[in-house]
Amino acid sequence: MTRSGRSPATAASGAFVLALALQALFIAGCDETYDPELLYPIRRDWIVNAESLEGTPGRINPPGILPLQILDGRKELLGISSDFLKARDEGKIVDPRPVVDVGATGVELMRSLRDLAGRPRYPKIDVDDESLNERLATELKLDRKTLERGSVVYRRNCLHCHGLSGDGKGPTGLWVNPHPRDFRSGIFKYVSSSQDEGKRKPLRDDLRRVLINGIEGTAMPSFSLLSDEDMDAVISYVIHLSIRGEAEMETLKELILERSQASTEEGEAEPIVERVRGKGRTAAERWLEAQTSQLTPPSQPDYEGDEAKMLEAAARGYKFFTRADQCAQCHTNFGRDADLRYDMWGTMVRPRNLTANIYGGGRRPIDFYWRIHLGIRGSGMPSFAPVNEKDPSVKDAETRERTMWDVVAFIRLLPYPEYRAKLSKAHGIYLD
Ligand code: HEC
Ligand code: HEC
Repeated sequence: MTRSGRSPATAASGAFVLALALQALFIAGCDETYDPELLYPIRRDWIVNAESLEGTPGRINPPGILPLQILDGRKELLGISSDFLKARDEGKIVDPRPVVDVGATGVELMRSLRDLAGRPRYPKIDVDDESLNERLATELKLDRKTLERGSVVYRRNCLHCHGLSGDGKGPTGLWVNPHPRDFRSGIFKYVSSSQDEGKRKPLRDDLRRVLINGIEGTAMPSFSLLSDEDMDAVISYVIHLSIRGEAEMETLKELILERSQASTEEGEAEPIVERVRGKGRTAAERWLEAQTSQLTPPSQPDYEGDEAKMLEAAARGYKFFTRADQCAQCHTNFGRDADLRYDMWGTMVRPRNLTANIYGGGRRPIDFYWRIHLGIRGSGMPSFAPVNEKDPSVKDAETRERTMWDVVAFIRLLPYPEYRAKLSKAHGIYLD
């Protein structure tokens, strides 16, 4: 058969193969992107509206259900935590449903959030301010093309844990502990920016590090195999979900508060669309600011293979660590016997066992420095910079900075029995 003289049979099978390929493409296409009509669901779950939740959880979270959902009367063997009932009565845990399920508020909120953040298929961040939108596109890579790609990558890799709106309640999410991050709170743990704690957002590089390494000791896997473009796109998409979610949460908190005060206050309420845009703008500005505010230490000690010097630093770090009001109050027995605590998502967290050699945020000295200097937002681990400043034993900035690194030296040595033995031999410090 000559090249030009294809038999009808070959042509037919060619067409068939083409049809199959198109079909495969179509199916894959369907599978890869969201329905264009789909909207992000409006938040209807409990919101933690406090700096922290008090109490000591008596047990590990039960699988398949989040502790705050138990407040809805979901049957759970051990019943509702009395700490949560108290927090609910004090307004530290609030319910958005009476606000979004009544009248037009839910619909208005849905529309306003769609204007701000688009839809899962066509995500965007539009804060109705041209120059800010431009900066969001160039400095934060929140342009529509990147976000659309991010939405696809997210759907494929992250959705089943982190959920459609980034609420952390995907089908897998409820079954792993700690639970996947709820991006809607705008709170992230492993962050290096020096912004004030309440405003602190991750650098894109902080998110990238989490995605490349995963979060040790949790179900958050490593995504180091993503291409650079997909990685960049999914980082943008997480930022998008977080800005959308924070605008929604902050608006809801306001509406809930106003509703509870409705009988005492008069006057025109600000339209929901304005509120959502304003909150979105605030969150977006914080994200922008974070990108240029990385905390960089003035110096970093190098023990130059000098073990005695390193042990000396660790011995000083030990003193700081074990002082009554410092680290040991939470990391009891270096974390081996730490009590459970509530985190900012209403789930439980245990101060890390620092002898176990498992770190969520990385194990380089700079990672520890950031954790100690800035704290771990959401988990209740405080920033030690301000505490340190009030401490008379470390009055000048230089000693404070050194103390931070001394603690790092101590933490780094803690998991190794060999080094613990050396510390006890050289400095009479007993850790076992
Ligand atoms: C198997 C479940 C699972 C999958 C899949 C998953 N994550 Fe996570 N993710 C988690 C868990 C669990 C945590 C919280 C760990 C913790 O609190 O220490 C987390 C936390 C995070 C955080 C918060 C980091 C911080 O500093 O607070 C980010 C960002 C994140 N994930 C992004 C992603 C992205 C993007 C994807 C997809 C590419 C993804 N995750 C896929 C489970 C998952
Ligand atoms: C108020 C309680 C509290 C205090 C005080 C505290 N921590 Fe923590 N720490 C925690 C909690 C909770 C976690 C676990 C965070 C998580 O898993 O999300 C943690 C985690 C850590 C981690 C693990 C970081 C990682 O990447 O996983 C280190 C290291 C650490 N703390 C060191 C210290 C040091 C050093 C001090 C004192 C300067 C200190 N902590 C004081 C509560 C505390």
